[in-house]
Amino acid sequence: MIRQKIVAGNWKMNGSKETVSSLVEGLLKMDTSNSEVVVSPSFPYLSQVSDALSASAIQVAAQNVSDQAKGAFTGEVSASMLKEFAVKYVLVGHSERRSLYAESDAFIASKVKLLLEEGLSPMLCIGETLAEREAEQTLVVCQRQVQAVIDLVGIEAFENIVIAYEPVWAIGTGLSASAEQAQEVHSAIRQFLAELSQTVAEKVQILYGGSVKASTSSALFEMPDVDGALVGGASLDAEEFIAIVKAAG
Ligand code: 13P
Repeated sequence: MIRQKIVAGNWKMNGSKETVSSLVEGLLKMDTSNSEVVVSPSFPYLSQVSDALSASAIQVAAQNVSDQAKGAFTGEVSASMLKEFAVKYVLVGHSERRSLYAESDAFIASKVKLLLEEGLSPMLCIGETLAEREAEQTLVVCQRQVQAVIDLVGIEAFENIVIAYEPVWAIGTGLSASAEQAQEVHSAIRQFLAELSQTVAEKVQILYGGSVKASTSSALFEMPDVDGALVGGASLDAEEFIAIVKAAG
C-alpha cells in the first residue's frame, strides 16, 4: 500500500513573532505536491502561522493539548480552541512531555481520546531511552506506549492517528537512528498493530524523529515502513526543512 509521506516540523519552544514570520515566508516557496507538510509552532504563534499558511497546502499542528475539554484548568489549552485556528494535528506523548512533565501513558491516551472526539488528528510520539535500548527493551516500550492508547480508543481509531517513532537518545543529539534501525522498529510497530487489524496497520503512517537532517533523510525515506519525519532543530531553518521535504519525494 502506498502511504503518503508526512514531513512535520516541531519548532518546540523557539521563535519570536519576527523569526516565525520569516520562517513561514521561506516555507511558502516550497513545492508541497509530493508529501504532506506540517509545521508546529508554539501556542502564541498558532494564529499568525495559521493565517499566513491559509492559502497554502502546509498544515498546522499544535505541540500540546489539555486532557480536559474545558473549565477551570489554568494555563491549559483545549482541543476545541485549537480547532478554531485550523489546526489539523496535535503532538501528544512527545518524550520531552513524558520525561520533563511526567506525562504517563494513560494521561497521553486521554488526550488522544479528546482530540479524536474533536476531529483532530493526534501525532502520537513513542520511543525508548538509551538505557531501554541497551536493555533490549525498545519494542516492549514502544508497544506499551501504543497499547495504552489502544486500550482507551481501540485499534480502529488508529485510522486517524499518526505515530512518530522518536528514540529519546536521538532527539537533539545529532545522533540519528540509522535507516535500518528506524525500519526495524517501524516494521515491528506495524506488525504489532496488524495483529489487531491488518487494514489499520497498512494505513497508519509512522514517522521517524530524532536528529533528522537533509543529509540523512533520503536513506530514512527509502525504508518501506518510514512514512515521513518529525523534525526538530532542522525545521527551524527553511532551506534545510525544504530539502528534507524534497527528499521525501
Ligand atoms: P531533533 O530533530 O532536534 O532531534 O528533534 C526531534 C524531535 O523531538 C521532534 O519532535
